[in-house]
Parts: sequence; structure tokens; C-alpha cells
Amino acid sequence: MAYQEKQLQEISRKFQIYGEILHAETLKIGHINETYTATYDQGGTRVRYIHQKINRNVFKNPAAVMKNVMRVTTHIRKKQEARYLRNATRRSLVVIPTRDGKSFYENGDHEVWRTFVFVEGVETYEAVQSPEQAFQAGRAFGEFQHLLVDLPGERLFETIPFFHHTRRRFSALQQAIDQDHYNRAKDAKTEIDFALKHEPIVDVILDAMAKGRIPERVTHNDTKFNNVMLDVLTGEAMCIVDLDTVMPGCALYDFGDMVRTTTSPTLEDEPDLSKVKMQMPMFKKLSDGYLSTASQFLTKAEKSHIAFSGKLITFEIGVRFLTDFLSGDTYFRIHRPAHNLDRCRTQFKLVESIERQEEAMQRYVDRR
Ligand SMILES: Nc1ncnc2c1ncn2[C@@H]1O[C@H](COP(=O)(O)OP(=O)(O)O)[C@@H](O)[C@H]1O
Ligand SMILES: [Mg+2]
Repeated sequence: MAYQEKQLQEISRKFQIYGEILHAETLKIGHINETYTATYDQGGTRVRYIHQKINRNVFKNPAAVMKNVMRVTTHIRKKQEARYLRNATRRSLVVIPTRDGKSFYENGDHEVWRTFVFVEGVETYEAVQSPEQAFQAGRAFGEFQHLLVDLPGERLFETIPFFHHTRRRFSALQQAIDQDHYNRAKDAKTEIDFALKHEPIVDVILDAMAKGRIPERVTHNDTKFNNVMLDVLTGEAMCIVDLDTVMPGCALYDFGDMVRTTTSPTLEDEPDLSKVKMQMPMFKKLSDGYLSTASQFLTKAEKSHIAFSGKLITFEIGVRFLTDFLSGDTYFRIHRPAHNLDRCRTQFKLVESIERQEEAMQRYVDRR
């Protein structure tokens, strides 16, 4: 349900924004967030702000989420300001505090709202349009991780625990197969076989992390292309958004999800599987971009799993779609029957395509 302009204006007034509010409207009702804009007159100039309502079903501890967001954005901004002379407020989200100095506002209905400076002159795309955009996505997320390598203070709060715990995701699938509450396992025989056959890849990164061979880092955990805002004039990636899942993780999970979401020309529920493929030119640009920034901190062990991470994360998301299909579609919203099975098939087709090219992908990365 979108909000009425009057309600939005009231929420907007809780924040430290100067000037006269002109209007407020809906920008995007996404799967998780609801995003609105408010326009103010400040000294004769129009200035916009973003207001977002935090999804309390997904994020049970919004105060801890905002504490993470504050620490991350402040740290990035400080480093960006030292590095670039211009555009600091277009290169990282700026949180506007409430009138009583808090990072979020909670109203009588327990809704939690936060406000950002509106970054002007940027655009986002649902899907990558060109290898150059893949480069920009890789570079931006690599830089994001790099800027956070020296984040001071305690470990960030885990806003969604076990988010990329592939073993837990796999166990949930096994349980859904055993229970088969909706008698759907018969419709997904090929996919179930595919998943079970791939069990050996499930623990590879978890084990390496447990043994300390791959370090825990601050990662974004939602590295979709529509979370990168690009300058409309130059196409340069300016600012990363959607910071609710920034938490301790593995750098490779972020990269793997970029491989999943940028290298195939299809959407994640493409029914025509013949169109689903890992395109090498896209991967080359994506990894060039990522390593142009991330090679400054990645270890040898991380680098040697770059191609593997694309396969693993694509497999993991496929497993989650399959689990949801077998469990009655409770997590991922569906828009047609067997939608989650279609999504799973698309992921597994992409896993196969990556598998066929995995060695060549890794060779390309190793040559640097
Ligand atoms: N500070 C901002 N300035 C301008 N646009 C923004 C800003 N923050 C978010 N947006 C736009 O709103 C969209 C949705 O925001 P996001 O935080 O990614 O929520 P969602 O959970 O819906 O993906 C982004 O893709 C971007 O286009
Ligand atoms: Mg987003």
C-alpha cells in the first residue's frame, strides 16, 4: 500500500530537513523496501530527499540495521572525501537524522523510517545492458568492499543470520524433499537430482572460511545491478544503495551473485532455457572491473575461487527457489504457477553453463 502525500509530508517533517516541503511521492515499492521522495524549497532551490520504510518482517532489529548503515556510510564518506575533491554526497548514501538526532524515526504504528540525501543525475537499470556496465558494477562493488576493509570497531550486526550458509540452504532443501507437503517433488525430479548431485560443492567456501583460509569481510550481500547508481552523463558507477544486508560475509559471495545476475542475457525466471548462458565477454568485463579495485585486498585463496563463486551462488539461489517451490511458495512471491520451479531451472541451467566454462573463466582471472 502506497502512502498518501499528507502522511508522507508528516513523516518527512520528523527529519532535520530545512525549508518548505513542496511535495512527496512514491518512487518504488520493491520486494523489501518502500521508497519515497520529498521535494523541499531550500533558499530558492529545489532539493530532494529519499524516505524509506524498513521492512520489519525481514529486519527484526531495525535499530541494529541502522547502526550498521551509519557506520558504513560514515566510514565510506570520510574516505571518499579524502580521495575525491568533488561529488562526495553522490558517492555514498548520506543519512539525514531525525529532529531529535536519531538515525531513524519510529511512529505510533511501529513503522521505522530513514531518510537519505537524494542522489541527483544518476540512474539504475534492472539488467546490465553492455559489458561496460558489467565493468562498472564489478568496479563499484569491489571498491565498496575495499573501502570497508578497515572499518573500525566491533563486528557488524548480522542483519539476516546465515544468509549465504550454503549447507543450511542445502539441508532445508533435503528436508523439503523428504516432507514433500505439496506432492510437488514428482514435478521437479530432474531439478532435485541435479541439486543432490552437486552436494560436493556446498561446503567448499564454508570449510575454507572455518579453517581461516578465506577471511571474513564486510560485504554487501545484495549485489544486483539495480543497486548501483550510474551517472547519467558518463555511465560511471557513483553510489551503491540497499545497505540493509551489509554485514560480515565472504567477498566471493558478492562476486558470485554478480556473475549470476549480470552474465546471462536473461531474467532470473526466463522460461526459454535455450537463452540462458554465461557469456564470456560479460564475465571478462565484470571480473576486470571487480579486480581493478578488489585485487588490492583479495588473498590468493579468494582469487582462486572467483569462477567457482559464480557457480556456487547461482546453485545456492537455485536451491532456495526449489525449496520454496516444494514448500508451497512461502518466501519468494510468485506471479504464475510453478514460478519458483521456473526460477530454479533458470539458475541450474546457468550453473551448467558456468561449469562448462569454469576453467576458462578462472584462467582469465589468473592471467592478471
Ligand atoms: N539516495 C538515493 N538517491 C536517489 N535514488 C535512490 C536513492 N536511494 C535509492 N534510490 C532509488 O530507489 C531504488 C530502490 O532503493 P533500494 O534501497 O535499492 O530499495 P529496494 O529494496 O526496493 O531495492 C534504487 O534502485 C534507486 O533507483
Ligand atoms: Mg535495491
